[in-house]
Amino acid sequence: MKLLVKNIGTIVGIQPPGRLRVCGPEMGQLETLDDAWLLADEGHITAFGPMTECPPGEDARIVDAEGGMLFPSFCDSHTHIVYAGSREQEFLDKINGLSYEEIARRGGGILNSADRLHETSEEELYHQAMERVREITRMGTGAIEIKSGYGLSTQDELKMLRVIGRIRQTIPLTVRATFLGAHTVARDYIGRQAEYVDLVCNEMLPAVAREGLADFVDVFCDEGFFTVEETAQIIKAGHEYGLRAKIHANELAVSGGVEVGVAHGALSVDHLERIGAAQIETLHGTTTMPTLLPGAAFFLGMIYPPARAMIDAGLGIALASDYNPGSSPSGNMRTVVSMASICMKMTPAEALNAATLNSAYAMGISAEHGSITQGKAANFFLTAPMPSVTYFIYAYQTPLIRRIFVGGEELPI
Ligand code: NIG
Ligand code: FE
Repeated sequence: MKLLVKNIGTIVGIQPPGRLRVCGPEMGQLETLDDAWLLADEGHITAFGPMTECPPGEDARIVDAEGGMLFPSFCDSHTHIVYAGSREQEFLDKINGLSYEEIARRGGGILNSADRLHETSEEELYHQAMERVREITRMGTGAIEIKSGYGLSTQDELKMLRVIGRIRQTIPLTVRATFLGAHTVARDYIGRQAEYVDLVCNEMLPAVAREGLADFVDVFCDEGFFTVEETAQIIKAGHEYGLRAKIHANELAVSGGVEVGVAHGALSVDHLERIGAAQIETLHGTTTMPTLLPGAAFFLGMIYPPARAMIDAGLGIALASDYNPGSSPSGNMRTVVSMASICMKMTPAEALNAATLNSAYAMGISAEHGSITQGKAANFFLTAPMPSVTYFIYAYQTPLIRRIFVGGEELPI
């Protein structure tokens, strides 16, 4: 059935068809239309315009936006929301002075989540992850990338990826799956890292590909995790199975992750708390989307990536939540957008573009998602009436999102 949304105070985030990302000064442009209507049919946006030209919509379900704003749904291109249990004990350890790296060296961190995941049934894992999916849906996310990486054995990586596949089949949100077998070295392989990398390339990847469970391959390329050489080996192995790379890079050190990602045509390099002018230059003019995760920098008390310098140098930037139990136990993309403005001095327009169109690009779906564009998925949310777009970023804890639509269908909030 058709859907006609009337009396929209402002439509935010309009883009022309065919624009797959915005870079540099374009990031600061956010096209809007005041006093508007929007029509959707069969899950896609078919038209929008000013209320003075509103179609009658006899054959449509009519929704009155009551003067609120309409935003394209957030796209969250980097999450780890399939995990078992939680890690608040490590949160206390951090409060008491341990760093993320120290916790990992003591066998906590990712290995702690891997132990829990191993003991948890696929069914239970699915139910826990679905709780989080419902949570982020209510907060305005309409498309999501989910990584494996808490399995660390062939069986458990497949278990995680099957759960992601089941989520994809049961929810209307668009889901992309990333194989992250190289998240850390499995407990049984500590001291035998090269053998673990061989396992990832020669056993896990073929098994994942055989079942068609992943769209992308990821590696945690950082100090204390995987080297540049190992990362290149895994990216190349992924290419043999048609998986493009999305790399965890430069979170803990100037790791070489940006360079190796760009050299191998990665779709995105993510984190980037520790990048400088050389890495910004490396990214320039490439198809790789630098993706910033301010929620992780905030939660771990790290320095924030130099977003301003990156945009001023002409780069596009994507924003994502990194929702995971260790470094970012939140998937609230609206908070991510506000953090980007507050902590990284991105303008509201830049931050919104980064969390929608550019984040869709960073998971290969920006032809169908990430903006209000004729032909794109009818994924959007309506807000309470607000004095300006900036108000939405500024009043960052006020519950302003009123109604959610994914594929033209209204979802409960
Ligand atoms: O993106 N940095 C690596 N991986 C995750 C954290 C995973 C965890 O601590 O469980 C991240 O921050
Ligand atoms: Fe991550």
